[in-house]
Amino acid sequence: MKKYIFLTCVSTVLLISGCSKPGEVSGPKLSADNIDEVISAMTLDEKILLLKGTGMKSMIGMGTAVGDTDKDVKGAAGTTTPIPRLGIPAVIFADGPAGLRISPERKGKDRTFYCTAFPVGTLLASSWDAGLVEEVGKAMGNEAVEYGVDVILGPGVNIQRNPLCGRNYEYYSEDPFLTGIMGTSMVNGIESNQVGASVKHYLANNQETNRNANNAIVSQRALREIYMKGYEMIVGNSQPWTIMSSYNKLNGTYTSESREVMTDILRGEWGFEGLVMSDWFGGKDAVAQIGAGNDLLEPGLKRQYKAIKKAVENGTLPVEYVDASVRRVLELVLKSRKMENNSYSNNPDLKAHAVLTRWSAAEGMILLKNDGTLPLTGNKNVALFGVTSYDFISGGTGAGDVNEAYTISLVQGLQNSDYTVNAVAKEIFEKHKAENIKAFKKPKGTLAAMRNPYHPPEYLPAPGQLSECASEADAAIITIGRNSGEAQDRVEKDDFLLSDIEQNLISTVCESFHSAGKKVVVVLNIAGVIEIASWKAKPDAILLAWQGGQEGGNSVADILCGKVNPSGKLPMTFPVTLADHASTENFPTDGRPMKLGFTGGKEKPEAEQEHNVDYTIYEEGIYVGYRHFDKKGLDVSYPFGYGLSFTQFVYDKMDVEVTGDTININVTVNNSGNIPGKEIVQIYVSKPDTQIDRPVQELKAFAKTPLLGTGEAITLTMQIPVSELSYWNEVKSEWTLETGAYTINAASSSREIRLSEEISL
Ligand code: BGC
Repeated sequence: MKKYIFLTCVSTVLLISGCSKPGEVSGPKLSADNIDEVISAMTLDEKILLLKGTGMKSMIGMGTAVGDTDKDVKGAAGTTTPIPRLGIPAVIFADGPAGLRISPERKGKDRTFYCTAFPVGTLLASSWDAGLVEEVGKAMGNEAVEYGVDVILGPGVNIQRNPLCGRNYEYYSEDPFLTGIMGTSMVNGIESNQVGASVKHYLANNQETNRNANNAIVSQRALREIYMKGYEMIVGNSQPWTIMSSYNKLNGTYTSESREVMTDILRGEWGFEGLVMSDWFGGKDAVAQIGAGNDLLEPGLKRQYKAIKKAVENGTLPVEYVDASVRRVLELVLKSRKMENNSYSNNPDLKAHAVLTRWSAAEGMILLKNDGTLPLTGNKNVALFGVTSYDFISGGTGAGDVNEAYTISLVQGLQNSDYTVNAVAKEIFEKHKAENIKAFKKPKGTLAAMRNPYHPPEYLPAPGQLSECASEADAAIITIGRNSGEAQDRVEKDDFLLSDIEQNLISTVCESFHSAGKKVVVVLNIAGVIEIASWKAKPDAILLAWQGGQEGGNSVADILCGKVNPSGKLPMTFPVTLADHASTENFPTDGRPMKLGFTGGKEKPEAEQEHNVDYTIYEEGIYVGYRHFDKKGLDVSYPFGYGLSFTQFVYDKMDVEVTGDTININVTVNNSGNIPGKEIVQIYVSKPDTQIDRPVQELKAFAKTPLLGTGEAITLTMQIPVSELSYWNEVKSEWTLETGAYTINAASSSREIRLSEEISL
């Protein structure tokens, strides 16, 4: 009988559902109060089946992700294994951080199954607005509910260690505190729908190059203060249903095989109560993974099943470990709507979510420069340059992509806001596109997009064309576009750096329009940090639009026309050069595509191991992002926390009081300009007389005002637990608080301190 179940059930959901076969013993049906009874009634085969997903059948086709989910929710990433005789249904997992990723089409259906492409994680973090991120999470979770998905594989909360990481767009920030707050809000939003989130990729998955085998070598202090901190905060504040382990090794051991990482710290120290699932095909040794407390192996392989079974039978894997993970899978199943035999509409309110994505994207866009040009009120005929002006990018590639019904381009967005898109400039672009039709063809499907990122060639109009545009149009907008994603890191040339043609485009458009007395705005429709220092003096305004989801063009137009006063601030530093980042010395810079395979990475003998590919030494330790730039006193292009508004804010006063274990901070901010706006107040803490090596300052609190009318003031209240000023003491292996004086700085960016107070602890 056991054999029968194994043979019929190991690979597909369908066969499993057919398991109530003649002769099968029916057992207790799973309910909230009989988990122990159900576990005791399970055969070893059933237990092991529950520890691995249902495998993958196909991965080819429009937008189809891996995972045998076609019969349930096409294009979802994976499922757990159902056991009908015990009343255990399958729960379904689907990506991802910018909205639900499922296939938009299904065979035999004459309707579509689109989801909303929300703004990417980096943009959401740029809003510094926890409430807004929670709202977006609620809407994403609602789409999961309506499409019958039980867990969203997101948010992505890895630290943006270096600008070249291909997946930075999915992640929030170079700072762990901002990451922790944003991640908490996203999880709370998603899970308010009774669907789960999967916080990923735990831990230290900061590069795509050779991610399946790369060994991240990181100090304990950097792990605790930088790479773990966000996860620790999210676990403490929102107790997510699930966490996804990462592909990479950490200090020699695959994270998913490390009991220290998956159990001792995550559960023992932080109190995580949920389930850990592997990243897809992540890790090597299924037995070690279960032994470590990585409860579920996705999408699930036959060889994992066999290995676990053998190890239990020969006693190398105690059955208690299997039972502990089985229990967590059952607890996840019990929390899910699947237990309630939920029906779902397959019709989320995509219209309402489009409204939400439009305004949430505008909230996270960042005004980097404005000499009074924006808002572009009087100028109604705008000439658009740069191919992405006509072909706006809504989000990055890979698991963070969404199959949305449409993307509003900048052209459409401007037209919707009553601008006239200059016909001469448009014609120039259309001719260029027609002449390069092949290069403008978008790869279809996730894998194709991962293998062949879409980068249509840029076009530099001739001087005659430019002067014609400059005489006809009232202003110019140049869009610089960048995309990146899973499976490949970025490179410096023509990616971090602008290409020659882009540099020339900015120079020549600025020359033509300026000599005609007209303004030029640069819009950055990018997935990650680029070089700006060399060209930022030329245009009159720069708007960092990131990748704003499917309504991106409308959101940008809302800012350009002044309907929305920008209030986003940078969640990372824009350095002058790539080499200024301490991590660049130890980061893969050749953009080598990752081998897409399902067997994990190939490990080479030690002597052949390649620096930054097989192993990456995080030599910079805790000096990631502004912690490094401040420590070295380096100039930056734009600092962490920076962002302009169409109005100005005065910081009137700050009160700081320590009561018990809490530092209470009140900051009064006043809108001293002449239009309503919002300000993000950041609290950085310094320890001037420190006895240890520590950052010059660290972000420990922040708050965003509501829309303040002109002359309106508000007092923002923030709190910092005293323990949050501790550092990780490697000698004692514990958090240690230095006593004495600390400086509390209220700032509008990490380089613009407005008010300071000393406290003594
Ligand atoms: C990605 C994960 C994703 C999973 C399922 C993996 O390749 O790293 O982020 O959730 O696929 O699609």
